[in-house]
Amino acid sequence: MADMTVIDKLIELHNLSKAEYLELLQYREDEEAVGRLQAEAVRLRKQYYGIKVFTRGLIEFTNYCKNNCYYCGIRRGNPHVNRYRLTRDEILECCRQGYGLGYRTFVLQGGEDPYYTDERMAEIIRAIKTEFPDCAITLSVGEKSCDSYRLFKEAGADRYLLRHETADESHYRSLHPAEMSLANRKQCLFDLKKLGYQVGAGFMVGSPGQTLSNIAEDLLFLQELKPEMVGIGPFIPHHDTIYAEEKAGSVDLTLFLLSVIRIMLPKVLLPATTALGTLDPRGREKGLSVGANVVMPNLSPVENRKLYELYDNKICTGEEAAECRGCLSRRVESAGYHLVEERGDALR
Ligand code: 5AD
Ligand code: FES
Repeated sequence: MADMTVIDKLIELHNLSKAEYLELLQYREDEEAVGRLQAEAVRLRKQYYGIKVFTRGLIEFTNYCKNNCYYCGIRRGNPHVNRYRLTRDEILECCRQGYGLGYRTFVLQGGEDPYYTDERMAEIIRAIKTEFPDCAITLSVGEKSCDSYRLFKEAGADRYLLRHETADESHYRSLHPAEMSLANRKQCLFDLKKLGYQVGAGFMVGSPGQTLSNIAEDLLFLQELKPEMVGIGPFIPHHDTIYAEEKAGSVDLTLFLLSVIRIMLPKVLLPATTALGTLDPRGREKGLSVGANVVMPNLSPVENRKLYELYDNKICTGEEAAECRGCLSRRVESAGYHLVEERGDALR
């Protein structure tokens, strides 16, 4: 039997050093180790959340983006994207449909689109909060100033998703153009925390050039930030990017990391992501069975869905909101869990 002290240590202390995370990652294909981590992750998940799975209605409201992240299908430099924006009323209509289906959190996600000025964003947030006071609003609209984040918070936003993408400076450089920086991204995450948002960070598994040492850095950064939510999913190439010929990230490594993150941050809200479901037809169910406790089905109007293509072959682009809800509810039950109609705030 392998010497598993580093696994015992993670389970006992919920944190490790970088060298220890690297050592832990050596066990990623060791069946016994994977099984132990999974069992502990599921135990913690059940202790805090029972068999509940929280659901978030994802509204992809604009695919315009002023950024040019090299891995992303909707980056500004891709001329082959049909760009769209949803109006305030179209967004509200998505929420109405979602509310009827049982969603109590709406995630407004978009590219970094200057059309949505702070005032326009605040107005959309206030309109949703006025009509659905019992719902949480999560924003996922990229890097903004601390003042903008404050304004959105005062307008009623509760949570913010901003994946850090990679916590290694030179890896970050290789995935993004020179005008973006890891330092600014981290600053945004700390600003959001300070303002009282429930914050989500995260990264892609198997992004181009990623090493195990990079992943160890990502885990260390999560340990430092202590986010309420962590979004991880496999990298999937997009045909109109310089990474078109790269291979996709590993589903098994993603599952391994979901268990590790659940143990590091026992109360974390951890989605089984669409990217995971895209690479493996039962990817989301597998995610739930290794420690994930959130799913984020699509609420965007069907005619826009194919246009919000961050990577190739994204699932759920042809289904109506009700179909996704029904499909996901069956999938969650098949994994032994239960989809609930709650805001699903993070336990503190
Ligand atoms: N494959 C997988 N995930 C991607 N994202 C962007 N492009 C890709 C891709 N090609 C992820 C990023 C971003 C989130 C919204 O989607 O991590 O933060
Ligand atoms: Fe969208 Fe299954 S969740 S079709």
